[in-house]
Amino acid sequence: MRILAIETSCDETAISIIESKEEKKYPEIKVLANVVLSQIKIHKPFGGVVPNLAMREHQKNLPHVLKLALKEGKFSISDFRFPISKQNKINKKLETLLSREPELFKLFKKELLSVPPPDIDAIAVTYGPGLEPALWVGINFAKALSYLWNKPLIPVNHLEGHIYAAWLSDENLRETLSTKDLTPKPPLLTKERGEKREIISLQGVRSEPQFPLLSLIVSGGHTELVLMKKHLDYKILGETLDDAAGEAFDKVAKMLKLGYPGGPEISKAGEKGNSRAVNFPRPMINSKDLNFSFSGLKTSVLYFLKNQNLASEISLAPSRKKSELNSATARPHLEISDASFRLEDIAASFEQAAVDVLVSKTKKALENSKAKTLVVGGGVAANKKLRAALEKLVSEKFPKTSLFLSPMWLTGDNATMIAAAAYFKVLKKKPSKNLDIKAQGNLRLSD
Ligand code: KG4
Ligand code: ZN
Repeated sequence: MRILAIETSCDETAISIIESKEEKKYPEIKVLANVVLSQIKIHKPFGGVVPNLAMREHQKNLPHVLKLALKEGKFSISDFRFPISKQNKINKKLETLLSREPELFKLFKKELLSVPPPDIDAIAVTYGPGLEPALWVGINFAKALSYLWNKPLIPVNHLEGHIYAAWLSDENLRETLSTKDLTPKPPLLTKERGEKREIISLQGVRSEPQFPLLSLIVSGGHTELVLMKKHLDYKILGETLDDAAGEAFDKVAKMLKLGYPGGPEISKAGEKGNSRAVNFPRPMINSKDLNFSFSGLKTSVLYFLKNQNLASEISLAPSRKKSELNSATARPHLEISDASFRLEDIAASFEQAAVDVLVSKTKKALENSKAKTLVVGGGVAANKKLRAALEKLVSEKFPKTSLFLSPMWLTGDNATMIAAAAYFKVLKKKPSKNLDIKAQGNLRLSD
């Protein structure tokens, strides 16, 4: 079975194609194409994702990204023509389906009508949660392709994608790949219209995570602990009551005048810092439930900086002494009253507080749920301190539990994870050609 998946819930325009073989004991999933076109550069000046800009960029990018994915998957992308008798009808239907995306409609007609319908079985698309204007572009594009190529549609929850990324775990891929003597290709980075495009292709067979399964989803919009007793069956055990973990990283990075997105920047700055330099609070770490709160942690970083009269002065201006403020070669630090706190120390201390809370709640959830597997996914799952702390937790305290960390290349938003989730949906229920899919910005896993 081959599935083409489309992901546009935030600021990545992503399309992937996977191939799976059901007859195996464990599903064999081959990634034929994984294209992610990031819009980070466009949103960076605004310090966050601007929904209408994202919508516009997805429209511009989708036809191009689709062609790249088809090419990467070795599908033909040219020399096709629909019979003249059908062309009028096709045009009209596409115009209706893409009536809210005029720019996409134009590009679709120009770029995609000469692409032969590829040998795929279904088209998967993220329908929520996320930014609704951005989600709609992906959904309407999927509907147009579904109509044009006569393929069924599979709506996928973005968070299901983050969970199912674990079914493509690096460790397992590497294990099997080494016995088959296949080496995963490293990400290929190219510049396209000034943006970064990432193409990765790898394949392999892997063993499966076992149920009951606990999943920690940590992203820019979500922080949730989810229990699965079987495939596609979700019970939210706990979630953030305010900011998501990634959001806190992004906001604290902004306070520290680090770039966007903040997670990787904080980690980078924190690498050389002392994580015990500032004792930031660990909100709700001792609460009996499995909920999180990151807003208080973020605010305490702000108060800490304000107390030191630093909130508006913070910059990466490197120096230990005021007289050295303009020295471009000295290390970044923050000048605080008489004392001197380095930026690295504040970043590392914040990061440690966030990681401690995530690990502590995950530990509690593992104790309560007796899960056989712990799966970790979402953008913040790229955090090295978090990965190491969870590895330590599982090996020391839960040796019978297997840990499936989302492979690094699938932690951020991508369409391969959407295709993987879609594959398990197809196994459960045959997909339909019903085009009645709506964007649901606040979609929950248990809906
Ligand atoms: O899953 P994702 O790509 O998008 C959403 O679904 O939200 O997650 C993006 C989030 C951002 O907040 C980003 O700052 C965070 O993941 N992130 C990290 C790291 N890399 C990305 N947070 C902490 N440490 C990282 N290394
Ligand atoms: Zn995400």
